[in-house]
Amino acid sequence: MKKNKHLKVSIVMGSQSDYKTMVLAEKTLKKIGVDFETKIISAHRTPKRMYEYASVAEKNNIGVIIAGAGGSAHLPGMISAITSVPVLGVPIETKKLKGLDSLLSIAQMPKGIPVGTLAIGDDGAINAALLAASIIGNNNSLVKKNLKKWRLTQTQSVKKSPK
Ligand code: RP5
Repeated sequence: MKKNKHLKVSIVMGSQSDYKTMVLAEKTLKKIGVDFETKIISAHRTPKRMYEYASVAEKNNIGVIIAGAGGSAHLPGMISAITSVPVLGVPIETKKLKGLDSLLSIAQMPKGIPVGTLAIGDDGAINAALLAASIIGNNNSLVKKNLKKWRLTQTQSVKKSPK
């Protein structure tokens, strides 16, 4: 794999309706100074778009893919089947099953094609961005430094007592 300081994160989601969750991944990456792009790609509604995107992801300097999907959430697994770029899945919260459907669809990938699965909803989107920053930080000292600073600020924001 290319040792490239400029690897970026690619955020994809199955629908415009997922953006209210996935925008939190964008906001978190911005805070840490990680380059990213954002796209809507649906595994079942735009399968050709998905294939074309995933097959050139590595060539396009994408170091980590964050894929958000809801319901029968096959997008992260399908992307991971096409590219060896690491895929982090964010299960979108759904009305009927509260995202349990999304969580199981993403986490229960059969052996051979992995998807790193985060928590359902907003927490998952934020943690996917933090994990993506950790991965990018392995080859990008500025991102690593910014992530450490972000975590220190978080630690310092926790009061010792509730009063
Ligand atoms: C999935 O279906 C998307 O990821 C979204 O979470 C869900 C519902 O999509 P819409 O009906 O809101 O477009 O593919």
